[in-house]
Amino acid sequence: MILPPATVGVLGGGQLGRFFVLAAREHGYRTWVLDPDPASPAGAAAHRHVVAAYDDSGALDEVGAACAAVTTEFENVPAPALDRLATVTVVRPGSTSVQVCQDRIAEKAFLREREIPHVPYAVVDGDTDAAELPADLFPGILKVARLGYDGRGQVSVAGPGDLAAAHAELGGAPAVLEARLSLDVELSVVLARDAAGPVAVFPPAENRHVGGILDVSIVPARVDAALTEQAVATAVEVATALDHVGTVAVEFFVSGGRLMVNEIAPRPHNSGHATIDACTASQFDQQLRALCGLPLGEVRAHSASVMVNLLGDLWGPEGDPREPDWAALLAVPGAHLHLYGKAEARPGRKMGHATVVAGDLDVALARADAVRTAVGLAADLGG
Ligand SMILES: Nc1ncnc2c1ncn2[C@@H]1O[C@H](COP(=O)(O)OP(=O)(O)O)[C@@H](O)[C@H]1O
Ligand SMILES: [Mg+2]
Repeated sequence: MILPPATVGVLGGGQLGRFFVLAAREHGYRTWVLDPDPASPAGAAAHRHVVAAYDDSGALDEVGAACAAVTTEFENVPAPALDRLATVTVVRPGSTSVQVCQDRIAEKAFLREREIPHVPYAVVDGDTDAAELPADLFPGILKVARLGYDGRGQVSVAGPGDLAAAHAELGGAPAVLEARLSLDVELSVVLARDAAGPVAVFPPAENRHVGGILDVSIVPARVDAALTEQAVATAVEVATALDHVGTVAVEFFVSGGRLMVNEIAPRPHNSGHATIDACTASQFDQQLRALCGLPLGEVRAHSASVMVNLLGDLWGPEGDPREPDWAALLAVPGAHLHLYGKAEARPGRKMGHATVVAGDLDVALARADAVRTAVGLAADLGG
């Protein structure tokens, strides 16, 4: 067990890393962040921010020497960096889990091999003949295999005749073509798994995306118990098969009543942010506990919650930005504001989130609508 006041590190300096750092500091650990951006949100909160690339061997050796354990906040860390660190310190999750999740082709193959229900797809590369692809993949979405996020690196493909142009738009990089499904609902399951195997699963979240970016997460999800149980069981199966140690999130589609895995994040997840304010341990507490070999916390939701993402669009037009009305937001009962300390508000950029908690979901939805009104979003949750 790695106990406070040991030093723990995180690769990546975004908001997920920042919340990890805050959780670790709260527990009495010293914190290091490796991120090339001198203005990274996590770097600003850590005891030490090493400003260097993820494949900078000198920087990795410095982090490895200083930190008793290192985790990651995003899946695009090069696997050799994790392996290099693992020769000198504890690294969780390990490179295997991260490698599968950072490449959509590897991720889909992982699901297919284990017969875990997933979205129909085909790998698209330079040799793909569009005419030979199954007709049920059209209309579809072409997704770049690596480095896509928040709906970026995705192009709609109406029919086989459009595939070549769509692939060119992605620079010809390896990609997967997925059937565009009509979605009943989207769900996600965040869980933590420790090195000895036990898991602690947060209640599934119901997620609404707008333009490919998460907009709202609602807990408890408004789906029947059988679907919830299936999502939990599938997420546990995925985490176990990956031998993932730490916090992991599985995103699901429900289409025509059927549950399918969309993608896997080998780290805490935006749809798990409500765990900070609505659960007895947060997804970041759990990441820390799993990393350090501490007992996992109880993950009971003590409140219903609605998490509303605050994107850069709320700051008004570029060139003439103004802060949203935080006082109005904070006047809503049960509202918790989390801003990530990003200097520049760009459209689609995740600047912060608000979580509203309440004793029951109808009240939480009404309060979330009040939060949305306060910052200029449509009050469309029907609360
Ligand atoms: N095959 C699909 N059918 C319908 N909607 C999809 C499909 N793929 C993605 N989407 C929508 O776009 C969102 C983002 O896509 P996703 O594959 O999760 O990429 P990202 O890595 O950007 O989160 C999804 O949550 C969903 O709302
Ligand atoms: Mg996604």
